[in-house]
Amino acid sequence: DWTSDTFIDATVSDLKKKIGTDKVVMGLSGGVDSSVAATLIHRAIGDQLTCVFVDNGLLRKNEFEEVLDSYKHMGLNVIGVDAKQRFYDALAGLTDPEAKRKAIGRVFIEVFDDEAHKIDGVKWLGQGTIYPDVIESVSVKGPSATIKSHHNVGGLPDFMKLSVVEPLNTLFKDEVREVGRALEIPETIIGRHPFPGPGLAIRILGDITEEKVKTLQEVDYIFIKGLKDHGLYDQVWQAGAILLPIQSVGVMGDERTYERVVALRAVGSVDGMTADWIHLPYEFLGKMSNEIINRVKGVNRVVYDISSKPPATIEWE
Ligand code: XMP
Repeated sequence: DWTSDTFIDATVSDLKKKIGTDKVVMGLSGGVDSSVAATLIHRAIGDQLTCVFVDNGLLRKNEFEEVLDSYKHMGLNVIGVDAKQRFYDALAGLTDPEAKRKAIGRVFIEVFDDEAHKIDGVKWLGQGTIYPDVIESVSVKGPSATIKSHHNVGGLPDFMKLSVVEPLNTLFKDEVREVGRALEIPETIIGRHPFPGPGLAIRILGDITEEKVKTLQEVDYIFIKGLKDHGLYDQVWQAGAILLPIQSVGVMGDERTYERVVALRAVGSVDGMTADWIHLPYEFLGKMSNEIINRVKGVNRVVYDISSKPPATIEWE
């Protein structure tokens, strides 16, 4: 029967055989999958693995610094790249969700490629692909493949000429978490909600500006911290906030305001293929709404998304 320990032993010895004395490069996202995959590869080949963690300017508040720090504590040989401006430049004026995803995917590949070229004689590309990703990208007729292009699945362009190593491609998410815990990866990484590769760009409907990213980061921070402080974070599969492309009328003191609207979303799911909206307590939602409106400049209305997947999707874009 499957246990995380037998999986780890077998995988580490396979990786050693397969990779030998070659060098591997791998992009980290801060998520569970890439972190567990990198840790397994690092167990097998140590510092023959170089990891690249890119700040695309679309991460959660403080996420880049905190996650980079955790990676260093875990002993990974990781290069942090600040590419915020490259992503903002590429996104300027784009409003179509797929155009945004494509721009982000393209810039990520450029940035990653720049870093990979600095590593002498690298032969392999490590990836955190898990079993459901394999299924989704194979079934071309499946909804996700046609409705949304998941840029981090399907790998990098041919010109990189790297062989791919994907130690998790037979596992489901809960098994990846089990393996991660057995590898003693910090709970802050293992228990983390999934987060899309294009990040906050697909939660800012319409065009992306740095100012909108900052606003959404503040809203998201209050919501996620609230979930943690109220013991709700672990009961939710994925949560986040969406910045809507509309303004609404409000009143502050004697003044009429005309400001932004944000939506909060929290879903339960097993694998992201289907999802139910979570019945968060009204008291909690009320508290979040007050905190967000009082503390985040430019937001005067908060709504809660009560749609399940299908027919809605988890993300709004
Ligand atoms: P949807 O919105 O399709 O999302 O119900 C299902 C899961 O996939 C994540 N998602 C993405 N992940 N690149 C990613 O890496 C993407 O372009 C992307 N789009 C959606 C989403 O956050 C949810 O966990």
